[in-house]
Amino acid sequence: MNSTQTLIPATLIPGDGIGPEITEATLVALDAIGAPFQWDRQLAGMAGVTSCGDPLPPACLDSIRQTRLALKGPLETPVGGGYRSSNVRLREEFKLYANLRPACTMIPGGRYENIDLVLVRENNEGLYMGYEHFIPIDGDPHAVGMSTGINTRQGCRRIINFAFDYAIRKERKKVTVVHKANIMKALTGIFLETARQIYDEKYKGLLDFEEIIVDACAMKLVMNPWQFDVLVTTNLFGDILSDEIAGLIGGLGMAPGANIGEHAAIFEAVHGSAPDITGKGIANPIALMLAAALMLDHVGRADLGDRLRQAIDATLNIDKVRTGDLGGTASTKQFTAALLQRIHAA
Ligand code: NAI
Repeated sequence: MNSTQTLIPATLIPGDGIGPEITEATLVALDAIGAPFQWDRQLAGMAGVTSCGDPLPPACLDSIRQTRLALKGPLETPVGGGYRSSNVRLREEFKLYANLRPACTMIPGGRYENIDLVLVRENNEGLYMGYEHFIPIDGDPHAVGMSTGINTRQGCRRIINFAFDYAIRKERKKVTVVHKANIMKALTGIFLETARQIYDEKYKGLLDFEEIIVDACAMKLVMNPWQFDVLVTTNLFGDILSDEIAGLIGGLGMAPGANIGEHAAIFEAVHGSAPDITGKGIANPIALMLAAALMLDHVGRADLGDRLRQAIDATLNIDKVRTGDLGGTASTKQFTAALLQRIHAA
């Protein structure tokens, strides 16, 4: 790093499971390209529960309140004990209403070539509000399960404007709004209605606009994903479709995500803590590295983000060093060492 460069304070949450392994790998890569972050390390998830009985300790929240910027490993949600997902709580606490999930083919020769899609998922509303309860009947405490979803006009406007503005900034051609307004006429009808209004008011002539029902979208993503460009959808549909889209580019190990609000942004891999491979040293660190590249783009250092992406590309495709999930034999450390050589050689 250039010694005269101003450092940007940022919170670092290594997270649970494979989180610490892929975070260390990512930090090594960020150091090598000279990323200007000054990290404040914090615990959350199971690591937070173990250290201070809270999956989202106040010190972690305070740190993000100050830095307004975080790189986060996966957080395990403790089963039972009444804990809500720390990820959902973070998105609520910092009003991170936009979840941006770009998916780009990095390894040619897979089932799908040249995928270049961006999913924009509404992150604060819909069926993730947690308004749920059981109704007991005849001694069965869980005889009926109920969940209420809420989408607001303001929330829909915010995310749809975000998707259109993002598409224009990135010189994309088309935005597809994904809904289920034929069945959930209020909950997702308001989303579709708002998208149509905003397109007519502000974006007509600047971009193409298309509507699709979520089930048809899921099928078309498998049959012909190239017909899509930027997709925007409600919270639960976005959660499901983003994993499907990750499958088009080699799996969860390749899929980064950004949670963006007006006053803070948190960058993470789409995948979880992968308890089945934790401690084996074989996790693919690329998703978190690509999330760190998005974080560099976000702070105005797309030059460094591009450098990191190019080095990952060369390591995968010229050196052919790949972890097991991508069909290779490299450990996390071997992949990272090869990546460092590429960064230094550039
Ligand atoms: P998962 O994403 O952790 O794992 C699904 C499968 O993908 C597993 O076979 C795993 O080994 C593999 N995988 C995931 N990341 C990988 C990587 N980087 N390299 C190689 N293989 C990888 O999903 P799962 O098992 O459903 O969830 C485990 C825990 O993670 C749960 O507690 C869940 O709540 C949490 N979670 C946290 C998320 C976050 O913090 N953003 C997102 C999703 C789940």
